[in-house]
Amino acid sequence: MPQSTDATRLGINRTGLQMSPQHAKEMLQTEDLLDDESSGAQSSPGDEQALALARQEYIAAADPLGSIPAPATLKGAAKTAAKMLTGRRSQVFIDKLAERLAFERGGARLYDAVCAKAIAPSGDLNKINVDELLEIRDAEARHALMVKECMETLGADPTAQTPCADLAGVESMGLLQAASDPRTTLAQSLHAALAAELIDNEGWDGLIVLARDMGQENMARRFEQALKEEREHLTKVRRWYTQLSKEMSELM
Ligand SMILES: [Fe+2]
Ligand SMILES: [Fe+2]
Repeated sequence: MPQSTDATRLGINRTGLQMSPQHAKEMLQTEDLLDDESSGAQSSPGDEQALALARQEYIAAADPLGSIPAPATLKGAAKTAAKMLTGRRSQVFIDKLAERLAFERGGARLYDAVCAKAIAPSGDLNKINVDELLEIRDAEARHALMVKECMETLGADPTAQTPCADLAGVESMGLLQAASDPRTTLAQSLHAALAAELIDNEGWDGLIVLARDMGQENMARRFEQALKEEREHLTKVRRWYTQLSKEMSELM
């Protein structure tokens, strides 16, 4: 029978109510008592309605996440490519390009963290091909570079933090934190990578449609190649995650 790892140890988690039935009973009785309308008191001030109202107030007072800079003045071929980019639709396209750039860049960092888990000498579940993981990491970095080039072709500034780039950065932060946490296992880090790959696949799908809408056929074809690679990433990460999760369940 294989030994359980730290991540699968049983019996040391004291967070649940079942750990102390007497205290659980007392707590629930107190809450019932305090929430009793006849007593006129509540276990804590306010309710979900107060939070909903507060949120609406903040939303009404909030500025947007940011804005999209206008393309720079260009010459020659770049000018020809950029001249189609006028108006609201072009702003959306540039915003979504910046979003993809931010997420792909974050993806490369995410795989750096997953690779660290894969080569860590914990010696338990490290059964995935690190070279393949590194290939995915490099593909994410390549994708980011390709989007940067596309933005430059259009006269857009790839270093500008657009609203959707800002959003993608915040969204991917949670995934990176999960994979970088030294306590998470390789399987748990791969769960974060799986979420990223699902977002990647959706992201490229949408960007291909937008590029065609904007008459950027060359870009659409480059994005299709990226999507093809993302589908392979998704298949691999899903297979590794399923395999490691299955092995973990057999250990328990
Ligand atoms: Fe990606
Ligand atoms: Fe990917």
